[in-house]
Amino acid sequence: MTGQYPETRPRRLRQAPWIRRLTREHVLGVDDLVWAVVVSDRADPTEPVAAMPGVERLSVKALAKAAKEAERLGIPAIALFPHVDPAKKDAQGTEALNPDGLVAQAIRAVKDAAPGVGVICDVALDPFTDHGHDGLLQDGRILNDETVARLVEQALMQARAGCDVIAPSDMMDGRIGAIRAALEAEGFTDTLILSYAAKYASAFYGPYREAIGSATALKGDKQTYQMDPGNAEEALREVALDLSEGADMVMVKPGMPYLDIVRAVSQTFGVPTFAFQVSGEYAMIEAAAANGWLDGNRAMLESLMAFKRAGAAGIVTYYAPRAAKALG
Ligand code: PBG
Repeated sequence: MTGQYPETRPRRLRQAPWIRRLTREHVLGVDDLVWAVVVSDRADPTEPVAAMPGVERLSVKALAKAAKEAERLGIPAIALFPHVDPAKKDAQGTEALNPDGLVAQAIRAVKDAAPGVGVICDVALDPFTDHGHDGLLQDGRILNDETVARLVEQALMQARAGCDVIAPSDMMDGRIGAIRAALEAEGFTDTLILSYAAKYASAFYGPYREAIGSATALKGDKQTYQMDPGNAEEALREVALDLSEGADMVMVKPGMPYLDIVRAVSQTFGVPTFAFQVSGEYAMIEAAAANGWLDGNRAMLESLMAFKRAGAAGIVTYYAPRAAKALG
C-alpha cells in the first residue's frame, strides 16, 4: 500500500497549508453542530451554570434570541434541556407531560423565532422527578413499562407543541417502538426519532445535573438502565433494537470517551449516528483552558473534529455557537 523511505515521505503531504487542506480526510463544519441549550422557567434572562463556564440557563425569551443566533450562524438544530422550579417536581415527573409547561413553551418560542432551525427534545423524566431518575421509582427500582407509558405521553406532548425530533434519553426498554407507534397513530408521520441508543452510566454527566438542577435530587445511580462503560457489543444490540423499533437516527453518549462506539455504530449500521459531547467533556476543556493549561479554542475544535473522524454525522455540543464562530 505504501512504499519505503525515502521514496515515500509522509511529510511531503504536510509541508504547507494548501496540501494539508487538499488531502484532509474529514472536515468539520457548522452543518455538523447541534446546540445543546439549557432553558429555565425562571424570570432572569440568563443564569450562569457554575460547573460549565460560558454556559447559561436561558429564559424562554432569551431562548428565542438564541434561536435567531443559531439561524444567523447556520447551526441546523437546537437540543433543549429544561431546568424547572423544584416546586414543580414530584415522584411521577408529572410536569413532563404539561402541554403548557416549560418545554412546550420553549419549543414554540424557537419555532416562532427561527422556523428553519430544527428542535430536538429530550424524552426522560429526570428534569421533573423529585428523585432525579429518568423513570418511575418503586421500592428502589425503576419501573420499565410504566415509565414507557409516560414517556409516550411526554413525546406526544412535544410533537403536538411542534418538536421536530423526539430524542429519548431514558434508556428504558421498548420505548422507541411505543413512541413510534403513538406518533404514527396521531398522524405525526414526519416526526423524527433520535434515540439515545447507547447511553452509558457516566461520571461525565455531573455538570449537567447541576445545570438542570437534578444533582441534589438524584437518589442512587442510573446503572440499572444506563449502560456499563465496560460494554461495546451491547451498544450494537441496543442500536439494532432501536432501529428495528423505528428510530431514524441514533446517539452515542458520552462522546469523547466512547469514540470507539461511535465508530462501531456508524460502520455497522450506516445510519446517521450522533455523538453527545456531554457537560463533563465541556467542563474538562474549559477548566484546563481557564488555568492556561491548554488552548481552549483549539481543544474545542480538535475534540469536535475527532467525532467526525470517528464517523459521526453530527455532534450535540454546548460549544455550537462558539465553534460556529471559530469555523467562520
Ligand atoms: C437525562 C439526560 C442526561 C443528559 C442528557 N439527558 C443526564 C443523565 O442521564 O443523568 C446529560 C447531558 C450532559 O451531561 O451534557 N435523561
